[in-house]
Amino acid sequence: MAVADDQVLVSLKGITKRFPGVLALDNVSFDVRKGEVLALVGENGAGKSTLIKILSGLYRKDGGEIQVRGETVDIQDTKDAQKLGISTIFQEPTLAPHLTAVQNLYLGREIVTPVLGRAWHSMDEQAMYHETEKLYRNFFDTLEDLQRPVNELGALKNRVIEIVKALSVQASVVIMDEPTAALAEHEREVLFDFIRMLKEQGVSVIYVSHHLRELFLLADRMCVMRDGKYVATVNKHETSVDELVSMMVGREVTNYIVKETVPVGKEVLRVSNLSRSGVLSDINLHIREGEIVGIAGLAGSGRTETLRAVVGADPISSGTVAIHGRTCQIRSPHDAIRAGIGFLPENRKMHGVLLELSVSQNITMANLERVVSRRLVLRKRKEAQIAEEFVKRLRIKTPSVNQKVRFLSGGNQQKVILAKWLFTQPKVLFFDEPTQGIDVGAKVEVYSLIAEFVRKGGGVLLVSSELPELMGLCDRIYVMHKGEFVKEFTRKEATEENIMLYASGGHR
Ligand SMILES: Nc1ncnc2c1ncn2[C@@H]1O[C@H](COP(=O)(O)OP(=O)(O)OP(=O)(O)O)[C@@H](O)[C@H]1O
Ligand SMILES: [Mg+2]
Repeated sequence: MAVADDQVLVSLKGITKRFPGVLALDNVSFDVRKGEVLALVGENGAGKSTLIKILSGLYRKDGGEIQVRGETVDIQDTKDAQKLGISTIFQEPTLAPHLTAVQNLYLGREIVTPVLGRAWHSMDEQAMYHETEKLYRNFFDTLEDLQRPVNELGALKNRVIEIVKALSVQASVVIMDEPTAALAEHEREVLFDFIRMLKEQGVSVIYVSHHLRELFLLADRMCVMRDGKYVATVNKHETSVDELVSMMVGREVTNYIVKETVPVGKEVLRVSNLSRSGVLSDINLHIREGEIVGIAGLAGSGRTETLRAVVGADPISSGTVAIHGRTCQIRSPHDAIRAGIGFLPENRKMHGVLLELSVSQNITMANLERVVSRRLVLRKRKEAQIAEEFVKRLRIKTPSVNQKVRFLSGGNQQKVILAKWLFTQPKVLFFDEPTQGIDVGAKVEVYSLIAEFVRKGGGVLLVSSELPELMGLCDRIYVMHKGEFVKEFTRKEATEENIMLYASGGHR
């Protein structure tokens, strides 16, 4: 359906972008209408973030034209984008770590008051603080965080500050690249309310996410990209999740959670009376060979902290960890690896990959014995062969296994870390939100790799905020509330309702 030109805010015409060995955007054209929420969807590596970076002035396009309100514009840098009213929440963190929330919000556009009515200005810290406070209050009850450097605040709050930052400017289009990654349920709700409010004010929103359910709640239209090309834009009311998925991947994707029941073997891990003062109290858990065990809970309930405490990433005040019945001293993640525990952390950018190393080096790094010959020479061919196999199975989009991980798209970096841990073949694997940011097609493959790992006798401990994922994959689920395990469910007993009841403390 054609719309009047004055309904169109941003028009992209034939946008092209090349990187060495990759045609990231191939003649992409579509319109963003005034006051609409336009979802941008596509598999990992489809070109979504690249397009957004071009619109935001972070990358220069190689070809094509951008029009804003019918006028051709030249976006050379982020300042140009800001002047056009384009405000962006990027997929990767962009806050200056040593500055406070307030300083980050006003970086480069400090509120100033004229001094003595002259050309002299002084920064109006009070005004900046109050503005920040107003927005921030929507997300948090406590405001003391505003005065602390953001690197002391943790991933979740950082995300919120990025969001607050993007919302604090008068924008005509707000772009969000997977904004809900790492957000808690109530924070998502607040964000969605904001999006609805922006829409009412006539602001356009471009929203990138792999959560298709979320998109059906929010978006007016969905724009599908595949392999750097524009596929189609569809109206929410005229499409379905299945149709969207098949447009994204160009093939059928069937029923996505797979868990066959594997015969359980011996106990592989037991954690007893684990405590960390103020954070975790008296955690007891065990995993048997062939088992996938889940931890459910709200954000902040201590799920990630439990994993970190067991692998020695955080100090504990008491408790023991036993592998195959033998107590191990685990004081660092390195000890954990030696004891046979692999850990796929949540904040992968910081802990998971070495960005300057290649795809193949990253995959084989934690298990070099398998690619080194008896004379301790690295067998390059072997290394590449192993990496190529994972690249194929997980459909990691990269020009070659020698590409530096830095140049991969967000979701593809995640797949590399997953491959790395699966190749390590530990006795137990801890996964913290393993499919966050991973596209629908690849999720299926991640699930089947996890299933394969336990079929071979491994044990898995899985933290996920996606209840369908937990209930679909796990044999047992522990529910956490305020740093404690408050309930254990078997696969049969677990329902969304009873998990939520315990997770929210409603059973008390
Ligand atoms: N700076 C860069 N240098 C080289 N290649 C790049 C660079 N940035 C992106 N690419 C490549 O361009 C393609 C598109 O990447 P992009 O980040 O836009 O994907 P995406 O759709 O955002 O994926 P995801 O869902 O995983 O975030 C990928 O093949 C990626 O490897
Ligand atoms: Mg991206």
